Amino acid sequence: MHLAVLLLVSALSGATLALDNGEMRVPPMGWLAWERFRCDIDCAHDPKNCISEDLFIDMADRLSEDGWRELGYVYVNIDDCWSSMKRDEKGRLQADPKRFPGGIHKLARYMHDRGLKLGLYGDLGTHTCGGYPGTTLDKIELDAQTLADWEVDMFKFDGCYSNATEQAKGYPLMSKALNATGRPIGYSCSWPAYQGGLPPKVNYTQLGEICNLWRNYGDIQDSWDSVLNIIDWFFENQEVLAPAAGPGKWNDPDMLIAGDFGLSMDQSRAQMALWAIMAAPLFMSNDLRTISSGARSILQNKMAISINQDAMGIQGRRIVKEKNGIDVSWRPLSNNASALVFFSRRNDMPYRYQTTLGKLNYTAGSYKIYDVFTEKTTTLKDTTGFVVSVNPTGVVMWHVSAFSECLIKGNRFQPLKICLLYCSG
Ligand SMILES: *[C@@H]1O[C@H](CO)[C@@H](O)[C@H](O)[C@H]1NC(C)=O
Ligand SMILES: *[C@@H]1O[C@H](CO)[C@@H](O)[C@H](O)[C@H]1NC(C)=O
Ligand SMILES: *[C@@H]1O[C@H](CO)[C@@H](O)[C@H](O)[C@H]1NC(C)=O
Ligand SMILES: *[C@@H]1O[C@H](CO)[C@@H](O)[C@H](O)[C@H]1NC(C)=O
Ligand SMILES: *[C@@H]1O[C@H](CO)[C@@H](O)[C@H](O)[C@H]1NC(C)=O
Repeated sequence: MHLAVLLLVSALSGATLALDNGEMRVPPMGWLAWERFRCDIDCAHDPKNCISEDLFIDMADRLSEDGWRELGYVYVNIDDCWSSMKRDEKGRLQADPKRFPGGIHKLARYMHDRGLKLGLYGDLGTHTCGGYPGTTLDKIELDAQTLADWEVDMFKFDGCYSNATEQAKGYPLMSKALNATGRPIGYSCSWPAYQGGLPPKVNYTQLGEICNLWRNYGDIQDSWDSVLNIIDWFFENQEVLAPAAGPGKWNDPDMLIAGDFGLSMDQSRAQMALWAIMAAPLFMSNDLRTISSGARSILQNKMAISINQDAMGIQGRRIVKEKNGIDVSWRPLSNNASALVFFSRRNDMPYRYQTTLGKLNYTAGSYKIYDVFTEKTTTLKDTTGFVVSVNPTGVVMWHVSAFSECLIKGNRFQPLKICLLYCSG
């Protein structure tokens, strides 16, 4: 059943349009300052944590030296509070001269020299959310050109201090203006988050045509309550949101906060797993200089990342919501593979959840199961009952591939020996 759905969905998603700038065919990955470092501009007292070029250089060094870049984490994104309170004499945005003495262009060069990319923040409106100069409708072309002149690679366009009418004009206008610069710049739109995230106020067809990603919902905070609230909103609205996503156009449930202060290891795995299922952008907001090895290994989990980055770009969905507090979600992947997440909303003890792949609508056959976080492999028939033990506020995540296909197809996706081993088993 799910395999048939997969082929149908992929045919449909190929037919819909995405912003034609060639950017972000898979969800973007990197680091973003906001959740962890906010608008700390007190460099005199807090030099290590204030929004300054040193902070972004430190993060770039960590991304390129600690194995992150090779896994796909390439964006280093500046958020609010980077700019001077005044535009320059030509009316252009400029960085705060004390905190960014080298300027944004030099910082972009620093990233590019290391195989990284630079993201910058702006706001459609009179002011940014933090009170810095905003981009009013008449400044859109100028600011787009400034981004291109600085060789910026991604632009997050927030929406504080603008109304619905201005947003309906400004977000498409900025998309055109970025295109007109001739520089491919990934475009993140906060527009839907300001309009409640749902139709009829939000037109996801249009968003897919003008933006590469968009924030649909409120800002994440450093707590499990916040993560759970976001998870609930995205899965409750999946019938609207999932069809909107695809290569070049992504729903953005906001930053990954593993490595900060609010989540346990189980909760960090839950966020990573569900963000992978949702084909969400993976922007960490943490301190990569001091991150624990536990949080690092979750964020660097290769299979979770490869599920997130699957080339078909189909956003997964919750397929079961049990009264006992277990949710099962599922995402179809390339090569007839899929991912399953068993998520526990319980608060008591590890729950032994029993089901079969058949009950989850897998077609008859044998499957190879790879447990993403324990890295153990097993095989299962669609009819075989199994039990997963899911920790409170935690997940079990599986990558599922079909061995019958791999036998039929010979050894295109798997070495023949492994195929025969599992298919005959
Ligand atoms: C601008 O848009 C055109 C048409 O959609 C596209 O072919 C081109 O690649 C875009 N250029 C940039 C820099 O985004
Ligand atoms: C939105 O703001 C503009 C000023 O930029 C104003 O002219 C317009 O009346 C406002 N529209 C609404 C619906 O508030
Ligand atoms: C949504 O946007 C698309 C593409 O821009 C447009 O064709 C369609 O009419 C819009 N839908 C509504 C309900 O406004
Ligand atoms: C996936 O499965 C379908 C039918 O179940 C088959 O026709 C197709 O060739 C398979 N694709 C791959 C890449 O194995
Ligand atoms: C399985 O498919 C049936 C029929 O389409 C559907 O009613 C049911 O909700 C599906 N179950 C799951 C777990 O996807």
